[in-house]
Amino acid sequence: MSNAELKKFEDKIERDVKIEPRDWMPEAYRESLIRQISQHAHSEIVGMLPEANWLARAPSLRRKSILMAKIQDEAGHGLYLYCAAETLGAERQATIDAMLEGKLKYSSIFNYPTRSWADMGMIGWLVDGAAIVNQVALQRTSYGPYARAMVRICKEESFHQRQGYELLTELVKEGNAEQKAMVQDSINRFWWPSLMMFGPHDSDSANGEQSIAWKIKRLGNDELRQKFIDITVRQAEYLDITIPDPDLKWNEKTGHYDHGPIDWKEFKQVVSGYGPCNKERMDARRQAQEEGKWVVEAGLAYHAKKSMNEAA
Ligand code: 3HC
Repeated sequence: MSNAELKKFEDKIERDVKIEPRDWMPEAYRESLIRQISQHAHSEIVGMLPEANWLARAPSLRRKSILMAKIQDEAGHGLYLYCAAETLGAERQATIDAMLEGKLKYSSIFNYPTRSWADMGMIGWLVDGAAIVNQVALQRTSYGPYARAMVRICKEESFHQRQGYELLTELVKEGNAEQKAMVQDSINRFWWPSLMMFGPHDSDSANGEQSIAWKIKRLGNDELRQKFIDITVRQAEYLDITIPDPDLKWNEKTGHYDHGPIDWKEFKQVVSGYGPCNKERMDARRQAQEEGKWVVEAGLAYHAKKSMNEAA
């Protein structure tokens, strides 16, 4: 590395010029991006599992079509993100293997079970809602391919959030007491894990400060979490359901909602592999890898043959 290269890189970051795959970049910047982008890709793929659990039990053809479209979108997001990681030199299968070996993470939220149909709405509203708050900021991330993938992903995530909120609105406004109770039970289980999606407090965020300096992350974990809470409380009021936090209250001085303490012990447990569904999720992904091997092999053989024919 020469000082001139580093200076050029820093200057681009300073002026908000995107870093592109062939540009020189510090090795630590590349590694941090590979870590974040591949974890993000794994989250999209593992995130299909809790919703797939309800696909065959959707209450109508309309609901089934919407859920299926959403799950397929998540697969697409995973693929854009694996491609973005590949532009940094990360080999796709190697990053998938690293996740299956527990060396690379995926979002903690997907280690929670989906117990009722209301969870399909709750995931759309809260989980995709939290993802959007984070990803809107990531559209301005400093690495070009990641930023461009985010633009497209955000458009689809908005549909995901809205279909979830619409599903819940129907349950609480047109449903019976049992259906409303199902929505309340669902937010009781999903509220705190959704707040954990934003990661630890900034004071405990190992990568946060450097990622913000490099403009990989544009906002800190706490600021994003607060944005999400501020938006969501009003939406919960419209649904007439209670957010399970007795300390949640509007703070005139700060202009934000104060919230109660997050259970970081639970977060650490889930992230280190001991959440309610970690084993089930990893078993499902391993099985998919095993059973899908022939498809990959057939695809590669077809591609090799086509290239040979074209060269001949
Ligand atoms: N689940 C699992 N691990 C988490 C986590 C979570 N919710 N939050 C933080 N962590 C991990 C970090 O990855 C890091 O571990 P590592 O050093 O081994 O990678 C550690 O906890 C400390 O956290 P940091 O704050 O230092 O980590 P980051 O600076 O990377 O910030 C992040 C964490 C905010 C999640 C950031 O990585 C990020 O914005 N990632 C991109 C967005 C993303 O991955 N979203 C997944 C959500 S689900 C989704 O998008 C699917 C959609 O369809 C719903």
